[in-house]
Amino acid sequence: MKILVSGGLGYIGSHTVVELLEKDIEVVIIDNLYNAQKETHDNITKIANKPSTFIQMDATDYDGLKALCQLHHFDGIIHFAGYKAVGESVAKPLMYYYNNLLSTINLARVATEENIQKFIFSSSATVYGDGTSPFSEDMALLERTNPYGETKAMSERILSDASKANPNFNVTLLRYFNPVGAHMSGLIGEVPNGIPNNLMPYVTQVAKGIREKLSVFGNDYPTIDGTGVRDYIHVVDLAKGHVAALLSDKKGVNIYNLGTGKGTSVLELINAFMKENNLNIPYQIVDRRPGDIAISYANAEKALKELQWEAKLTIEDMVRDAWHFEKNVR
Ligand code: NAD
Ligand code: UD1
Repeated sequence: MKILVSGGLGYIGSHTVVELLEKDIEVVIIDNLYNAQKETHDNITKIANKPSTFIQMDATDYDGLKALCQLHHFDGIIHFAGYKAVGESVAKPLMYYYNNLLSTINLARVATEENIQKFIFSSSATVYGDGTSPFSEDMALLERTNPYGETKAMSERILSDASKANPNFNVTLLRYFNPVGAHMSGLIGEVPNGIPNNLMPYVTQVAKGIREKLSVFGNDYPTIDGTGVRDYIHVVDLAKGHVAALLSDKKGVNIYNLGTGKGTSVLELINAFMKENNLNIPYQIVDRRPGDIAISYANAEKALKELQWEAKLTIEDMVRDAWHFEKNVR
């Protein structure tokens, strides 16, 4: 089996390539290096101890994609390439719509033209909007509050329509909850650009002394301790979910939540980090972050039933591996 992985040097893509190689699946990675380094390819090779091909290419380049797919005859595409910063998407909506939608359209177009029958897309729990957890795949999607989330909902729609029109084009939409952690080797992980927006990379940077203290956004939510609750999932579990989706023989459009089904509050996560790593994380409670919801966690039963996949790693694994990577990086 030969798979094209777009955005395969990024955070989730790199972990997924490792899992694919470990299953002896042939991989060609394209990435424009907007948010990744070439050295990540060397580290993937080191971990998997197997080769893969990396080509620097932009997923909005239709002609490049077409030539590549004609050369390789892929069995499937896993599409990670895209921009992902929510705040930036509000400031630069056209940049987000252009990159995230055009890359999806071009890859789907080439896939249908070249009879590539399997397409897996990185969607997000953000498509559920401010709904009530646990989120199930069949729930009606609510209004998105930012262009990033809108590109995910639109891409889901575009791919679903393309599949309906092309019975051989089978699409899996994976809705990720909150990916955290890193490969246990400490060789690949998440390296955010500038000040992290997300909780876990902020915590690891405070632990390392790069940031002075963490701001906890609100302690007056209707949750166990007043802080926001999320479904954190280890990136290695998430990566394995892609392999399960790839190996499934389900046809048409299939949607799966990739989460653990369990919620963890901000304070619970900080406490787990401090305990597991024997470190102190100074923090202060500040106002809520605009746009945040109180509680987000998955109903993860469908992926278990249909893909025989479930997340296995614990919060302790996540905080340990996140810190192990942060210590090694830079
Ligand atoms: P990332 O930024 O680490 O990886 C994305 C990769 O795509 C980067 O290596 C970047 O250089 C590349 N890229 C961007 N635009 C490209 C283009 N036009 N052509 C080729 N390469 C391009 O992000 P990630 O966290 O690994 O996320 C992967 C996917 O999963 C994204 O689509 C993201 O929106 C989605 N997602 C991420 C999260 C999360 O919390 N990390 C949650 C839900 C969904
Ligand atoms: C964010 C994105 C969401 C995306 C998701 C994927 C926003 C508004 N939303 O969601 O679209 O799909 O990442 O990972 O950016 N927190 C703090 N202090 C911090 C950072 C975060 O208290 O410095 C809290 C937040 O209020 C939230 C929790 O930690 O309760 C998790 O935040 P974060 O990691 O940013 O993820 P999401 O808000 O779920």
